[in-house]
Amino acid sequence: MAKPVTQFICSACGAAHKKWSGRCDACGEWNTIQEEAPLSSGPGKAALGGMKGRRMALTDLRAKETPPPRAGSGMEELDRVLGGGLVPASATLVGGDPGIGKSTLLLQAAASFARKGLKVVYVSGEEATAQVRMRAQRLDLADTAVLLAAETNLRDILTTLEAEAPDLVIIDSIQTMWLDTVDSAPGSVSQVRAAAHELVTFAKRKGVAVMLVGHVTKEGQIAGPRVVEHMVDTVLYFEGERGHQFRILRAVKNRFGPADEIGVFEMTGAGLAEVTNPSALFLSDRDAPAPGSVVFAGIEGTRPVLVEIQALVAPSSLSQPRRAVVGWDGGRLSMILAVLEARVGISFAGLDVYLNIAGGMRISEPAADLAVATALLSAREDAALPATTVVFGELSLSGALRPVSQAENRLKEAQKLGFTSAIAPSGCKFGSNNGVTVQSFADLPSFVGETFGAE
Ligand code: TYD
Ligand code: MG
Repeated sequence: MAKPVTQFICSACGAAHKKWSGRCDACGEWNTIQEEAPLSSGPGKAALGGMKGRRMALTDLRAKETPPPRAGSGMEELDRVLGGGLVPASATLVGGDPGIGKSTLLLQAAASFARKGLKVVYVSGEEATAQVRMRAQRLDLADTAVLLAAETNLRDILTTLEAEAPDLVIIDSIQTMWLDTVDSAPGSVSQVRAAAHELVTFAKRKGVAVMLVGHVTKEGQIAGPRVVEHMVDTVLYFEGERGHQFRILRAVKNRFGPADEIGVFEMTGAGLAEVTNPSALFLSDRDAPAPGSVVFAGIEGTRPVLVEIQALVAPSSLSQPRRAVVGWDGGRLSMILAVLEARVGISFAGLDVYLNIAGGMRISEPAADLAVATALLSAREDAALPATTVVFGELSLSGALRPVSQAENRLKEAQKLGFTSAIAPSGCKFGSNNGVTVQSFADLPSFVGETFGAE
């Protein structure tokens, strides 16, 4: 029998290496490679040739399948992100930075599901039951029938769950769980992967919904939950800027619903409050029309969301001017600056550029291009756009404006919040403009000429 070889595994991407190095070749992360015992030192590859596997039963693709029954929590923002409620026998990973509010969110979810009649078990590997109970009191949830345990030994947890047969199990967090059959330390990639595998298998076998909390850290001592992402049905990220009270729950993968759906919450002293109209919240503390401020009519998942994009342009004292972005992609900002220079002849050379998405929101939609370009121009030219105008449209490298989807929904949301005009690409299709005056442009030069005067 071949002697078991130690492996070196990257905690960020899970790639295996023969020897340790400072940087992972596969994902390029630094200091993420850890020494680990091999996954199985028992019967290896050789055994597969001799041992016959069990014959599987194949099923027909044409067989009718009814959509999964779903349990709603009554927390609308959460249910929407889950794709319409919790699916039995599903595994969900809720990832996020430490301290962002995952435990709070899941305790509130546990209580909401329990109130709807589900049997919920909340297993904390990080806090004692007394701490969880105190948190529940603070959140005014102490009277709900949630079963608690403070435990990290997965063998004990699974035995208990097997006997209790709950509808929903919450594991906070997957990094603290350990299996006695795996040799490495809790929090290592092997442990996290094995623990997640056990829990996901349990979910499928017993028809129990499982929600796993995963911390995302850069340090590498705790395995990033990325290795777990492909094992689960749904991956949700809980994100937000520290210092902002908004928290966004974002579906990045969902086998039972649309990805990219978001749920918006506001942090309060009494826990997370649902924000049913995020546009109103993101725009609530907007000042009078100011240069550099533009309202973007965006779509997050199935829902239109209006957000304010702020730009500041100032003379730079540096040989390489600053480009700082919060809430948007830095590469995309460079692209837009380049398009402005090449197609309209407006240069930002020698100028520091700051771009901020207000309220701690993060935008990934290309439809924000035109709004960003407008904010940059408005800041540079010191010319404010009317406070009642929204902007959307994708920018191509040629300077043409590309139409974006769901123009009608964007306009409807704008109208609902009191906006009266919109700037959009001319190819956008919409049935009704919902009473919003739409100014359409085919390309960036014509838009700039019209709005900021010919350069
Ligand atoms: P916590 O849920 O423990 O974060 P995580 O599990 O992601 O590490 O929340 C961190 C802290 O923030 C905790 O001390 C409670 C506080 N908090 C509030 O006061 N109100 C809120 O709405 C939330 C979400 C958190
Ligand atoms: Mg926690």
